[in-house]
Amino acid sequence: MKGVILAGGTGTRLYPLTRLVNKHLLPVGRYPMVCYGIERLRQAGITDILMVIGKQSAGLYADFFGSGENYGVKLNFRIQESAGGIAEALELAEGFITPGEKFVVLLGDNLFLDDLTPYVEKFKQQHIGARVLLKPVDDPRRYGVPVFDPNQPGLILYIEEKPKHPKSRYSVTGIYMYDYMVFSMIKDITRSARGELEITDVNNRYAEQGKLGYDILKLWWGDAGTPESLREAEVYMRGVLP
Ligand code: DAU
Repeated sequence: MKGVILAGGTGTRLYPLTRLVNKHLLPVGRYPMVCYGIERLRQAGITDILMVIGKQSAGLYADFFGSGENYGVKLNFRIQESAGGIAEALELAEGFITPGEKFVVLLGDNLFLDDLTPYVEKFKQQHIGARVLLKPVDDPRRYGVPVFDPNQPGLILYIEEKPKHPKSRYSVTGIYMYDYMVFSMIKDITRSARGELEITDVNNRYAEQGKLGYDILKLWWGDAGTPESLREAEVYMRGVLP
């Protein structure tokens, strides 16, 4: 299976640091943030990886990672011209992912302690559709929040993006698994009020068809999109990389 790490976007919540360097290259302990996602994919046996990055700091990615060889992976890069949304970034993986292939997607600012292997194995058994990983959180209003299907255990009925009144205490994390159909789903959605192609709209296409499965992460998960969450991530991720 192949992996895709999405590291475009502007990182406005981490200004002014992110005016200097792309968010996903900011330090978390001794490593740039995005190294942890690469390591989680490698640990799950996924070594052929596409990184979608913005134009900002593009040269630094090459300087730091080169081909990926020193990190045990083979890295490919694509540039997302402007921050048009997570689904827009994901669409750039078409071609790297070929018809019939299933793959794993990580948001570059998502950091977590679970080994992905068991979840990836489950997705390999799931013949079609998509699978997301969830985590109970204190304030679900900051995230995509799943509503479970009461009639079909193991399936999500729909996801609400940053709801004012969340219907569950779970966050949809930035760890997604898709079949090749995802690229048709992306072509089918329209831009949201904030002008982005939303990953939640894509996931809801799968949910409508009864094809959105889930698992629940056991260990710590966070997104390092704000100064506070970046500091928290630094504490939890200590020791994950040598
Ligand atoms: O962290 C999990 C959450 O991520 C989910 O619960 C939400 O459902 C999902 O929409 C997303 O929400 P955020 O508001 O946190 O997404 P954000 O705009 O911060 O983007 C997260 C990552 O996605 C970012 O680190 C890089 C990538 N990205 C984002 C955009 C907007 C791109 O590669 N290109 C983009 O244009």
